[in-house]
Amino acid sequence: MNTPTTPMHTPATALTQDELKTLVGQAALQYVVPGEIVGVGTGSTVNKFIDALASIKEQIKGAVSSSVASTARLQALGIAVFDCNDVERLSVYIDGADEIDGQGNMVKGGGAALTREKIVAAQSARFVCIADESKLVQTLGAFPLPVEVIPMATRRVLAQFAAKGGVGHIRLKDGKPLVTDNGQYIIDVTGLQIADPLAFEAEVSQWPGVVTVGVFAFQRAQVCLLGTASGVKTLEF
Ligand code: 5RP
Repeated sequence: MNTPTTPMHTPATALTQDELKTLVGQAALQYVVPGEIVGVGTGSTVNKFIDALASIKEQIKGAVSSSVASTARLQALGIAVFDCNDVERLSVYIDGADEIDGQGNMVKGGGAALTREKIVAAQSARFVCIADESKLVQTLGAFPLPVEVIPMATRRVLAQFAAKGGVGHIRLKDGKPLVTDNGQYIIDVTGLQIADPLAFEAEVSQWPGVVTVGVFAFQRAQVCLLGTASGVKTLEF
């Protein structure tokens, strides 16, 4: 991992997690290419990026969004949202992560948007991850791994994770299974140590009924803007 550490801001007092998210959201603007369409992820950190993006909205064509929630926020701020299918290639995709390791591999899907996130990331030349330093890990797997599944496959997929030592649960919302933007369920799996993210992603993606596994190794980050106590660190992978 290459770690040029260019603090963009050195705070006198400790910043809150929310303030760190604001810092990295603003720092991500430097990766937005004027005149182009930018890929936009989902989550509380990305919300800070979207708010910052509004300040330069006249300089971009618009965005491709990875969720209904991000689309609504972008549009409310007057940023045009394009359908993924109407755009050939994006130069950059900006998104958060639940975990990121020293090679740019990530666990994502805490906000249940992993499938569209992976699609937009795959369409982008560069993935810039924005995260506070609590997300940086040595080995992926401490954060419960989100997996989007076709509802009828839930039991089978849970059993396949159990055979790997994982314990999975259907994610609930208001006491009922959460239904994603794509009409599917999410299971969250604990107890996994993901030592080889690429092999893990390749394997689980083959299981019948798995729509998307929340390991992003094929679509790993090339850059991570990490909010730390001493400012924004830029990690390049
Ligand atoms: C949503 C995601 C988010 O990027 C991830 O959950 C991080 O979210 P936050 O910025 O709120 O911590 O993958 O599906």
